[in-house]
Amino acid sequence: MTSKSPTSNILENEANSPSTILVIFGASGDLTARKLAPAIFNLSLDGLLPSECFLIGYGRQKMSDAEFKAYLKDSLNAHSRRKIEGKAWDDLEHKICFHAGSYDDPKSFEQLKLKIEGIEKQLGFPLQCLFYISTPPGVFKPILENLGKSGLAKRHSRKEFESKVIIEKPFGRDLESAWELNEVINRRFAETQVFRIDHYLGKETVQSLLVQRFANSIFEPIWNRNYISCVQITVSEDLGVGSRGGYYERSGALRDMMQNHVMQLLALTAMEPPSSLDPEAIRDEKVKALQAIKPLVLGGENSEVVRGVYTQGLVNDEKAVGYLQENGIPENSYTETYAALCMQIENWRWKGVPFYIRSGKRLAMKASEISVQFKRPPEILFGLDERFSLSPNLLVIRIQPNEGITLFLNSKTPGLETKLQPIELAFGYEHTFGSNTPEAYERLILDVLNGDGTLFIRGDETETSWGLITPILEYWQERNSRGLENYAAGTWGPLAADKLLLARGHEWLTGKNYEL
Ligand code: BG6
Repeated sequence: MTSKSPTSNILENEANSPSTILVIFGASGDLTARKLAPAIFNLSLDGLLPSECFLIGYGRQKMSDAEFKAYLKDSLNAHSRRKIEGKAWDDLEHKICFHAGSYDDPKSFEQLKLKIEGIEKQLGFPLQCLFYISTPPGVFKPILENLGKSGLAKRHSRKEFESKVIIEKPFGRDLESAWELNEVINRRFAETQVFRIDHYLGKETVQSLLVQRFANSIFEPIWNRNYISCVQITVSEDLGVGSRGGYYERSGALRDMMQNHVMQLLALTAMEPPSSLDPEAIRDEKVKALQAIKPLVLGGENSEVVRGVYTQGLVNDEKAVGYLQENGIPENSYTETYAALCMQIENWRWKGVPFYIRSGKRLAMKASEISVQFKRPPEILFGLDERFSLSPNLLVIRIQPNEGITLFLNSKTPGLETKLQPIELAFGYEHTFGSNTPEAYERLILDVLNGDGTLFIRGDETETSWGLITPILEYWQERNSRGLENYAAGTWGPLAADKLLLARGHEWLTGKNYEL
């Protein structure tokens, strides 16, 4: 176990991770082209890769080494945040090769093992192996089993050369499948070797959340039910499902965004201060926060769940078709493209404070925000009179875009009359730090190289989160399309989601003009 902090690695790291072979399963896929190859290249530009770092692309189709290198180069030209120039690509290029093989044939894994051992022999010293599973989820299990059977999962006994496995989402599609996947993993790997990805945790602003909460003494005393009236988490997208209709139809908003990304934001917002920056100390507190969430009320007057699907509308002034008209979506589909939940955390800190969370496609804008709404001040001096329009204080943490933090306070407007108006204390990342922040995948791959699991999801965390979400999935499945609300593309979702909050004395804040 390491004790790296969630914020210190970038500063600490001097390419001090052991020499490595990174094997990417699903190497000719979209994720490799858009995210993984650019991340590796940018780490190399920053001198953060180990001195010896090899990349083996593993895929089902035949491809020569030269073809794979050309594919990666094109991907970098299209997607890297910095240009391919100079030595960095040349340094990488001669350490890249392709291995064609099937995911369920043990022989292909034996051959992979020989290839890895061949490289080690040539170098004359051992390498740590990172196995990055970026394939469709249907082959996660055979890959994990074959890594185990071939001995690739446990190649070296020395801790620094221990093999590591990185698993992309979706990690299961309900509690049972997540449990089954964890069972295979636990048989083949130790938990310290496993890195379950949620790319939201690699986002700079998400990491910064821990710093904002625990490096500023002004927040901790008021971060509880005595001062906070509600917490809202919105992860909205203006895009539709695009070419991913086939995948999305089997997923829906709850599986695609809520179970993972949104629940992670919730856990980081709600968790108790960890006793140290040790990855396990942080993950323990996240799990405890998730475990304290009460099962949701699924139907009736007090229902705490809303789902919706977009119909045609206008998004950013352009016509958008409805979900049922998207490619690959059957006309009898009842997959939700929007979900809103009201969660209650039953612990000393949060009892009685609703956590409203929502996510959807084809909403009015792309925005990921955490809004912490404080209780109204007592209306003793200000508030009895309309002139005062007293607003509750509000802290808005913007994950993306326009990353930053805004605190809304009440202030007096200038003039002889005493009138109140909310004003903003605002901090913007770009304004303060400039714009060239590393991508989430750069941070995550670097952390795996160093064996730091802080920003990855632990097995029990996936199961706790699925444990909350699965009953909702089952309930919706039973009800088919009953209760699936429509919302026009380009709006903020179904009316039922507004009512969910209104019935509890609140309203959604993201997308609203904060002049409350
Ligand atoms: C992915 C989902 O995990 O996150 C996509 O599968 C979604 O449907 C994407 O569009 C959003 O990520 P980001 O980083 O653009 O907010």
